[in-house]
Amino acid sequence: MKILITGVAGFIGSNFATQFRDKFPQAEIVGLDDLSSGRKDAVPKEVILYEGSIVDSVLLEKIFSAHKPEYVFHFAAIPRVSYSVQHPVETTHANVTGTVAILKTAKDHGVKRVILSSSSSVYGGAKILPTKESENAPDPKSPYAAQKFCDEIFAKVFSELYGLDTVCLRYFNVYGPGQYGDSAYSTVISAWLEALYFPEAKKAFIEGDGSQSRDFCYVDNVVLANILAMQNEKGFKGEVFNIAHSERKTVNEIKLMIEEYTGKEIELEKRPARAGDVAHTHADISKAKEWFGYEPKVNFATGLKKTVEWFEDRKKQ
Ligand SMILES: NC(=O)c1ccc[n+]([C@@H]2O[C@H](COP(=O)([O-])OP(=O)(O)OC[C@H]3O[C@@H](n4cnc5c(N)ncnc54)[C@H](O)[C@@H]3O)[C@@H](O)[C@H]2O)c1
Repeated sequence: MKILITGVAGFIGSNFATQFRDKFPQAEIVGLDDLSSGRKDAVPKEVILYEGSIVDSVLLEKIFSAHKPEYVFHFAAIPRVSYSVQHPVETTHANVTGTVAILKTAKDHGVKRVILSSSSSVYGGAKILPTKESENAPDPKSPYAAQKFCDEIFAKVFSELYGLDTVCLRYFNVYGPGQYGDSAYSTVISAWLEALYFPEAKKAFIEGDGSQSRDFCYVDNVVLANILAMQNEKGFKGEVFNIAHSERKTVNEIKLMIEEYTGKEIELEKRPARAGDVAHTHADISKAKEWFGYEPKVNFATGLKKTVEWFEDRKKQ
């Protein structure tokens, strides 16, 4: 088997590459990343790594001609909502033009399936919880969410127009080992753990009263969903699927759990609620279960403990 992983040096891409290599040791794994936020040292040494951008059609042509990947796992993106609000043109170039370039090259080279990374942000605050794909029409509220929704539309167009097999996985708040919390755009779990273990570099804060809740998804569940989507024999035509735990936790609950697992107290600077922040996310994952047997294998408590262990290991290094 030959696969291409875009965004292979990022949080999800590097976890995926490591677990895919362990599960399919004979596979040829090619990776592409421009290292704009990814870390080269996170990429397993077995991966044939190309440093460059998904918007570079010449480079894509070279990679697809040389390696003839059968499956493409497309993780590369500039994935931060608030960054996209400040940089709508730059992020649209990477997140939409880059995706179309990947789809076009995959189509030209007869790729069997492209598995795309979409996001729960396309819902823009779902009307019905738990959120089913069919009951909540996309209503993007940021450039990032609009870009991910555009990618879903392009995936469907490429399936219908050119017969390319595509599937879009809408991840909900992914967390786990390999997610650094040192950026201004980090999400709550990684940011708070970063502040606890590396207080000289980062201060923890809370926005609003902490009653907002999220359906946090441990990264191994996202990896599993990608592999199951690849293995599905039925084929796809741009369908979208929620990928989550289907279990939600409030930000206040997460604080208590982190304090219990680390034995440390988190000191939080209070900030006002973020404008436009959705109150709750909670996914219905029955469609992914029905189509390709997706069921989260790691629950929230176990995933959080593994994430804490990763921060403890980093601290010791
Ligand atoms: N982490 C989450 O909670 C979450 C939730 C929903 C969807 N997603 C999606 O999952 C995917 C992976 O997210 P992540 O959390 O691992 O993000 P990440 O920032 O850790 O990884 C993205 C990777 O893409 C690379 N990249 C960025 N622009 C590129 C370009 N033009 N060409 C080549 N490489 C480029 C970066 O260097 C980085 O290594 C993204 O598509 C993201 O939108 C993530």
